[in-house]
Amino acid sequence: MDAFAQLAVTSVVKHFGPARNRHVAVDDVSLTVEPGQRIGVVGESGSGKSTLARIMVGLESPTAGSVDFNGAPLRSLLSMRASRVELRREVQFVSQDTTSSFDPLRTLRDSIRQPAQRLLGLSGRDADGLVDETVALLGLAPGLADRHPAEVSGGQRQRFAIARALVVRPKLLVCDEVVSALDVSVQGSILNLLKRYCLESGAALVFVSHGLPATAFVCSELVVMQNGQVVERGDTRQVLHDPRHPYTRALLAAFRGGPARSAA
Ligand SMILES: Nc1ncnc2c1ncn2[C@@H]1O[C@H](COP(=O)(O)OP(=O)(O)OP(=O)(O)O)[C@@H](O)[C@H]1O
Ligand SMILES: [Mg+2]
Repeated sequence: MDAFAQLAVTSVVKHFGPARNRHVAVDDVSLTVEPGQRIGVVGESGSGKSTLARIMVGLESPTAGSVDFNGAPLRSLLSMRASRVELRREVQFVSQDTTSSFDPLRTLRDSIRQPAQRLLGLSGRDADGLVDETVALLGLAPGLADRHPAEVSGGQRQRFAIARALVVRPKLLVCDEVVSALDVSVQGSILNLLKRYCLESGAALVFVSHGLPATAFVCSELVVMQNGQVVERGDTRQVLHDPRHPYTRALLAAFRGGPARSAA
């Protein structure tokens, strides 16, 4: 498989629930991500951000539409072991829910070592070295990694989840609300780390969050979602200073603590 060149989401729709009472979580979204792009996905709770992110990494399949990695359907890449391993090396996801994303019976170190061994083919000792290096990057004391997931705080577990994704040095990182559980000072260092990682490695980032200031700090582009649809996509500065869609203006006003300004 060639190194990550493009992830393309085309006309993706996702329904939940029975036909007579179906809920449209994602409603005809098309989006591309290319190396070096840092795309922030913002929007109110329930607007479909997590569902879209999960579809982008193949954790959820769309009701309609397609997701392609370097032009090949994600679904077929995931269906064969060899291409699945290569894909997981290129694309990593950090979930909004860290409680269920770690095996409760394994130490955090074991959980982070596993992708380093399985996806990168490293020996136990080399994988351990990489785990220690990555855990240190996240500002976590090395001893914490020998605990089980229930034995660390929610914020620490969140940082271990980022470490597990970064340990393979992915070319596309999809993060769902990864700083929401962190206190402000730790948030700042994690946001810096993610941004620096992308700038230095050329990796792409999809950063899902309802925290607009954090998203604007990390991302070069913003995608605004409302009711499952993308209502605006643009350069971060343009979206912040010259929002085109009324919903974006309302969202900005909510963060600035004032009423929405109408378009000039
Ligand atoms: N597995 C599911 N079954 C049924 N409905 C779902 C499921 N997952 C999500 N939904 C619904 O789809 C809609 C979009 O949910 P999603 O989690 O994508 O929103 P979100 O933008 O990530 O919200 P938040 O900011 O609260 O995380 C919501 O109305 C949600 O209730
Ligand atoms: Mg969500």
